[in-house]
Amino acid sequence: MSQLSEERKQELIDKYSKISSPSSTNSSGPRGPGGGHRGPGGGGRGNRGMHASGKPKNAAPVMKRLLGYIRKDIYRILLVFVFLLFGIAANLASNYILRPVINNLVDTNSSVEERVRNLLVGITLMAVIYIVGMITNYLNSRIMVDVSQSALVNLREDLFNKIQKLPLKYHDTHTHGEIMSRFTNDLDVVGQMINNTMTQIFSGVITLIGTVILMFVTNWILAIITILGVPLIALVASQIAKRSKNYYKGQQKSLGAVNGYIEESVTGQKVIKVFNHEETAMQEFNFLSDDLYEKQLKANFFGGIMMPVLGNISKVSYALSAVVGGILCLTANFDIGGLTIFTNYSRQFARPINELSSQVTVIFSALAGAERVFEVMDQEPEPADHEDAVEIYKENVQTVYDENKTNEDSDDKAISIKGEVSLSNVTFGYNPDKIVLNKINVTANPGQKIAFVGSTGAGKTTITNLINRFYDIEEGLISIDGIDIKNIKRESLRGNIAMVLQDTHLFSGSVMENIRYGRLDATNEEVITAAKTANAHSFIERLEHGYDTELEGDGSNLSQGQRQLLNIARAAISKAPILIMDEATSSVDTRTEKYIEEGMDKLMKNRTTFIIAHRLSTVRNSDEIIVLEQGEIVEQGTHEELLAMQGRYYQLHTGAIELD
Ligand SMILES: Nc1ncnc2c1ncn2[C@@H]1O[C@H](COP(=O)(O)OP(=O)(O)O)[C@@H](O)[C@H]1O
Ligand SMILES: [Mg+2]
Repeated sequence: MSQLSEERKQELIDKYSKISSPSSTNSSGPRGPGGGHRGPGGGGRGNRGMHASGKPKNAAPVMKRLLGYIRKDIYRILLVFVFLLFGIAANLASNYILRPVINNLVDTNSSVEERVRNLLVGITLMAVIYIVGMITNYLNSRIMVDVSQSALVNLREDLFNKIQKLPLKYHDTHTHGEIMSRFTNDLDVVGQMINNTMTQIFSGVITLIGTVILMFVTNWILAIITILGVPLIALVASQIAKRSKNYYKGQQKSLGAVNGYIEESVTGQKVIKVFNHEETAMQEFNFLSDDLYEKQLKANFFGGIMMPVLGNISKVSYALSAVVGGILCLTANFDIGGLTIFTNYSRQFARPINELSSQVTVIFSALAGAERVFEVMDQEPEPADHEDAVEIYKENVQTVYDENKTNEDSDDKAISIKGEVSLSNVTFGYNPDKIVLNKINVTANPGQKIAFVGSTGAGKTTITNLINRFYDIEEGLISIDGIDIKNIKRESLRGNIAMVLQDTHLFSGSVMENIRYGRLDATNEEVITAAKTANAHSFIERLEHGYDTELEGDGSNLSQGQRQLLNIARAAISKAPILIMDEATSSVDTRTEKYIEEGMDKLMKNRTTFIIAHRLSTVRNSDEIIVLEQGEIVEQGTHEELLAMQGRYYQLHTGAIELD
């Protein structure tokens, strides 16, 4: 087994820490090892928040917008704060009650009965206070869970709705993982913040203030001694935090690399196996994992010693106040009850401070998460339809399947079309610096069948992307019956175009449901007819449960060719007057393809069809064949005309050159 070179090691960390989306590395912050909920300020989670990805770029507007999501619950939140106040007051008071209780116990002047009675009264009072505290705590968490979940529901729905409206360009330029982590990691940490952080900060502050006041009430000398210890605690904490900061950065990167590597290996497992790269993958992963172990060890060491160190410091101040308090009892008439409760206060005094500082980190990563969510929400959606955009329909063809909305009774202007599709002088590039289609001129008369052939990357799929406005063109004109497609409502346009995409997708659900996706009101019989047209019927019948067979994970229980057949059936069931088939039959055998063609020919009769095919046999009976190379039309005409030209099509046909 070969060893990984140092170069490769560095490369692995650098490369894979970038693949994994920033938030998926960041998200482990709040839940990762080290500093738990009570985590020390600058340590544990603290420094993770300082990692670039864990910090919002612009906190104030994000905060404001986030507050918008809980504004409707503002009264409930205020109620929680009132409860919290009660709870904290009760907690502080119950401690304070100990003072007279203890003083009464050690008071040798009163009778035993009286002392016992007073003790019982004190205990009962404390019990009541505790019970009330428990109930308010319970109510608080009920309310806050509800508030945070309802904020999350709204955020999640807004985000999902937004994603449905984003132009295809967004999906083409962002990985699935990236979009997914907006929904998972980012929303999670936001929910966590709404759920815990607000109340914790509030109760931290109030507890701190209350404790300090009561400390002064109990004994101001001791109070001053205890508070003098605060700068010391802060100093030590910030020193440790500074040390661990760099380690946390390193850990963050390693964590990203590990996640990225897993992401890629899981997705590419099949390819890894095909090329026997398991050994290398294991070796590389082991390296990354060990690296993460080391970094985490170092980072968590500092995070881990924070608590004990701070704990010991506060123990010192505890001991100090106990000693001084003891002396005061003996010399200055300080009561024993007072000393007892003071030591209690001084012990819990440091806790809210630590808590508060650790919450700051949660807030940072939550705001960063929220910021990323809002970034998606702020993406430009597909531009709204033109104000006087029209709807189109073909006479006697029902293409709108919303029950409440039919072609006839729509308020909007609906124009009857025959189905002529024309591209004139269309020039397009996904990026301005690279032209993919150059001056394309094609006209498909109603009912005609137009074929595109050409090498991979020639721009065939791009043309289909333009016709149904996945992308809008800047130069040239695409029109249907002379109407610029930009002036047709998108929904209406797409409703009139049935498409078999090059990359198929099937949804979880039965075969029947998947075919019906093409037209929701289709009857079972119509589904079966469509399946027969697409030549999918016979294989569906052979499936274990026939049309009721459940498909899972994009139809992973079917062969590639079978998936294509279902996609064709889905298009076949649609009555749209324009049909686009992008390499629809590339994965089925030639014999099946022949069958499909026969079926489809019937289907195409009344439809304007664009067909992109690899096999020339599929396209020979087209009304026009367009040979596309590098975004330009090099030849166009019927099969016979093109053969007669003895050009590129002829060469392809005779096998002199091959499509790659
Ligand atoms: N979403 C996209 N963003 C940027 N470039 C793209 C995108 N899709 C395709 N391309 C580029 O456009 C060119 C044409 O692609 P495509 O139309 O898919 O070719 P074909 O379908 O003929 O194989 C290729 O060079 C490809 O790299
Ligand atoms: Mg293509």
